[in-house]
Amino acid sequence: MALQPAVQTQGLTKSYHRGQRPALDHLTLTVNRGEIFGYLGPNGAGKTTTIRMLLDLIRPTSGSASLLGLDAQHNSVEIHKRIGFLPGELNLWQNLTAKQAITYLHQLRGHDDSAMRYAHELAERLQLDLGKPIRSYSTGNKRKIGLVIAMMHKPELLILDEPTSGLDPLMQQIFNQLVTEVRSEGRTVFLSSHILSEVQAICERVAIIRDGKLQAVERVSDLTRVKFHQLTLTFRSPVSPDRIANIPGVSEIKTEGNVLHLRLSGDFDPLLRALDGQYIVEVRSQEPSLEETFLSYYGAANGSSAKKEVTQ
Ligand SMILES: Nc1ncnc2c1ncn2[C@@H]1O[C@H](COP(=O)(O)OP(=O)(O)OP(=O)(O)O)[C@@H](O)[C@H]1O
Ligand SMILES: [Mg+2]
Repeated sequence: MALQPAVQTQGLTKSYHRGQRPALDHLTLTVNRGEIFGYLGPNGAGKTTTIRMLLDLIRPTSGSASLLGLDAQHNSVEIHKRIGFLPGELNLWQNLTAKQAITYLHQLRGHDDSAMRYAHELAERLQLDLGKPIRSYSTGNKRKIGLVIAMMHKPELLILDEPTSGLDPLMQQIFNQLVTEVRSEGRTVFLSSHILSEVQAICERVAIIRDGKLQAVERVSDLTRVKFHQLTLTFRSPVSPDRIANIPGVSEIKTEGNVLHLRLSGDFDPLLRALDGQYIVEVRSQEPSLEETFLSYYGAANGSSAKKEVTQ
């Protein structure tokens, strides 16, 4: 028998207050086993709301969810035994040391000694000293304690709410290695983030939500294909925008004296050729945010979620 999907939701909806726009609006989504799946959206999009319903910490207004083929509400006890969860905000016993808290949870869960060994390995790799009282850890280090607790028993499915927020770039890399190992063991990771570039390196697919509505589910490779650059070119003397107006991929040209601002999709070559002979003092390129990449892909003007053809 084929394995059930890691996560499946059907019309999952949450309204915190009657009469207001739902925090999550009819989410229908499938996460396959063995994939690292990114759940992306800006602040307030509904990511944490979704995750709380998957874990049965709050109840949906309508719709349903299943994890590992088990109903999120009716089988929540069994689900909690089989998954690992990193909440957006970790509440732990402030006066215990990290080691005491981890040991206590380990005993409570009844996992074998290998989980405790792996917890120490994780702490070492994350450069986390387990000996201090929880109250004294910094935000980033608390996040690491949460990651150890979520990952130590090598669960089939990891649900991580903004796992890398507060982690420095080196730790983000170590985190990326850890989740890649999870995938290589055939296990599944569902992680939320509001930063596209953070998840690009590790996720195969991403779902993008905004205002509680699913906007798209994409392979990351397809999203990077539509990436563009916001360029600022400084010349030694003023340059007419006409020179580059018809260059493929160039749009939104603005001039300010010797400075040209423009947006470039695709390769740099046609633009640079058109500027041949001009003395370029400086080129600055800004990576678009998730929101910008996404809006350029799906169209911001009418707020429509209709998928546009990607023209390159
Ligand atoms: N307990 C609550 N009661 C009322 N409204 C809530 C509650 N929790 C969240 N909301 C609202 O639901 C919407 C979605 O919030 P949610 O926390 O799910 O977003 P998020 O995508 O996790 O955002 P962030 O990136 O800031 O963590 C927001 O408008 C938020 O104000
Ligand atoms: Mg959140």
